Amino acid sequence: MSQRSCLSVILAAGEGTRMKSVMPKVLHAIAGLPMVAHVVKAAEAAGATGLALVIGHGAEEMRKAAQKFAPKAETFVQEVRLGTAHAVLAAREAISKGYDDILVMFGDTPLIDAGALAAARQKLAEGAAVAVIGFRPPNPTGYGRLIEKGGRLVAIREEKDCSEAEKKIGFCNAGMMAVAGKHALRLLDKVGNNNAKGEFYLTDIVEIAGAEGLDVVATEAGFENALGINNRAELAEAEGIWQARRRREAMLAGVTLIAPETVYFSHDTEIGADTIVEPNVWFGPGVKIATGATIHAFSHLTGATIGENSEVGPFARLRPGADLRKRAKVGNFCEVKQSTVEEGAKVNHLTYIGDARVGAGANIGAGTITCNYDGYSKFFTDIGEGAFIGSNSSLVAPVSIGKGGYIASGSVITESVPDDALAFGRARQKTLPGKGKELRERFASVAAARKKAAE
Ligand code: UD1
Ligand code: CA
Repeated sequence: MSQRSCLSVILAAGEGTRMKSVMPKVLHAIAGLPMVAHVVKAAEAAGATGLALVIGHGAEEMRKAAQKFAPKAETFVQEVRLGTAHAVLAAREAISKGYDDILVMFGDTPLIDAGALAAARQKLAEGAAVAVIGFRPPNPTGYGRLIEKGGRLVAIREEKDCSEAEKKIGFCNAGMMAVAGKHALRLLDKVGNNNAKGEFYLTDIVEIAGAEGLDVVATEAGFENALGINNRAELAEAEGIWQARRRREAMLAGVTLIAPETVYFSHDTEIGADTIVEPNVWFGPGVKIATGATIHAFSHLTGATIGENSEVGPFARLRPGADLRKRAKVGNFCEVKQSTVEEGAKVNHLTYIGDARVGAGANIGAGTITCNYDGYSKFFTDIGEGAFIGSNSSLVAPVSIGKGGYIASGSVITESVPDDALAFGRARQKTLPGKGKELRERFASVAAARKKAAE
């Protein structure tokens, strides 16, 4: 099958009014990626070499987005929506290039599995002209029914055109199908619109191909494959299914999730074996975690790279560009952005590290802040290997602390500190013997006089 060329035609011209959104429906995200991009990924995983995206509503926005998630896709505008067959024909130019297989997919059906697509393509390789992906929904109302005779698919009947007997059929059309490239345009051009909705139905090619004596079959896929998204409740349902799949995949790949249903992955999260993820952790896009790390509860990570055996959280916030090397530690209520925390360095409590390098083995005391922004520009802080930053220090960038440098607690450091130096950036402490007691007695007598005057 791998030798056969394949064009995926993805229909995404629909308006999606029920999303109640200014954004085209298929650009709403699942796991941080537009749902139509999930469809593209599945097509590619099933071996599609060409991609044709049929757009209509919000064409400009769609084209712009497609440049990111499918730069190689050709886009075709369906000016008026006259039905699914009409939509596929909008990509006539791509289809006529002579692919072996045409995979018709829907942009709003993001959980389609590459395996289900490959199974349909396999039927074409075995000689079928059309292979329709079927499924058995808990409630078939609204779906096209698959009408079979002797193991052959003879027709797909839309709900509105079904007889009472046909409405009882539980085997339904998931919507997607594989069509042999050499027959595709001829079959599609024969489709008419003589039906209850007056639309050109893609599903009619089943009867048309049958009448030509061609082989038409149905394959069966799991329910999720056909889950079409029309509103935000269905979007959340799809997100839930996607997350459940991903969690299971992570666990089977050697990641411990103590409470899997509370951990949220992004479409591109990479996470190594023997990593432990505690409950309530959010992985935004672009997170890469090596093996043996521990992500403690309530941490929020986006665009971060986490080295082997490092430790994050609880309640840590790692923002884009946070790069933790081996055995680094970023503890509770710490935020790290666009900074490297080198091997074995510790940033343990209530700290902000932004636009900085924390050298190997350095220790950053509680409440340390890199003051990286003056309201106009960002500046870099370089902290050398083995440096010690005393608690509640402010490092005003641009500034560097040399290797083994030692910063006294509560310092405001505005000038760079050389290797192994000790720096104080705070007022000297003054201690007055006996003065504390004297002060207390004075305050007490003032309060007593006030109380007496009030009586
Ligand atoms: C379609 C199938 C039905 C199947 C169901 C599964 C047809 C005729 N019917 O019905 O058998 O059970 O999917 O969900 O194919 N689109 C366009 N341009 C158009 C029309 C549709 O781009 O002119 C796109 C839509 O945006 C959508 C997809 O094609 O992504 C499916 O169209 P929709 O109208 O939702 O078809 P259904 O009525 O759900
Ligand atoms: Ca639909």
